[in-house]
Amino acid sequence: FAFADLSLREASKDFMVGVAGASHRFGDEAYMNALKEFNTMVAENGCKLSGIQPQQGVFDFTDCDAHLAKAEENGMKFRGHCLIWFNYQPQWFQDIKGYDNMKNTIVEHVTQVLTHYKGKIDTWDVVNEAIEDESTGENGTWELRDTFLSRECPDFIDIAFKTAREVDPNVKLFYNDYDIEGIDIRQGKKTNAVYNFVKDMKERGIPIDGVGLQYHLHTEPGKTVKYENVMETMERFGKLGLEVQITEMDVNCVKGNTEEEFALQAQLYGDGLRACLDSPYCTGFLIWGVGDSDSWRTDGYPLIFNKDYTPKPAYYSLINVL
Ligand code: XIL
Repeated sequence: FAFADLSLREASKDFMVGVAGASHRFGDEAYMNALKEFNTMVAENGCKLSGIQPQQGVFDFTDCDAHLAKAEENGMKFRGHCLIWFNYQPQWFQDIKGYDNMKNTIVEHVTQVLTHYKGKIDTWDVVNEAIEDESTGENGTWELRDTFLSRECPDFIDIAFKTAREVDPNVKLFYNDYDIEGIDIRQGKKTNAVYNFVKDMKERGIPIDGVGLQYHLHTEPGKTVKYENVMETMERFGKLGLEVQITEMDVNCVKGNTEEEFALQAQLYGDGLRACLDSPYCTGFLIWGVGDSDSWRTDGYPLIFNKDYTPKPAYYSLINVL
């Protein structure tokens, strides 16, 4: 397979088609060629708390800045990911005890980051993965994921969003999570729970502008989502007055790198992008990595470029949908 005549970026006509980039790969020419197919970059890790605040109170924007600079150098927009998350966090953060200490730490982190990137990054995932996976979401309910954040500071989500809005009123504030793409996944329980949760935020006047559907799929039933169900999910969130973006798409091929699996993978990528283009509520589509060997998912050939950065059927599927 060769690259298409029109790049994804050209074919997108400015609709946000993005990819997670990693600064330690920027020196590789084949990697950069594939990365430049997209019109938007998100840092795979560089803008997370673990990268920006490795020690409490010590802010280091070097790596996040490097991602942003590379995006600008290549005419790409940049999406911010993520301010507050429970997973892969430095020990000092996980060890914080007491409501006030946790609250102050969250306020300080959000304030420092949004101040540094004021006028440079216009969309941020403010809170990532805060709802319990097995949350039933029945009767308007949800459960917060039980973590050091929710234990020490149960209203950490409200605090993070309110702080973000105060520091930079021009930034779009997203809640981002996985397994919420449609009722096909977890019998719809988690998507219902997140729906009820963000609805409650809106009703209580907490500033939130959008929901990110991470869109980490597998090529097996129960771990994929049908086009019409994605459309329905986008519409539900949209009718709350929220934008939706597909933020981290990848598709694990559970039976390996066969022609059949790649065809199914290509179809699922195409369906995701098609839903995003067809839904009036979806404003961006992003993939979680460039080539298969860059992926955080170590098996399953999940991305749209091979490890040598030649395009896979999924790449053509996206081009065709655009
Ligand atoms: C992952 C990165 O891809 C890995 O390199 C890192 O070790 C852990 O985080 N959901 C998210 C992303 O919101 O931030 C995660 O990224 C993948 C799952």
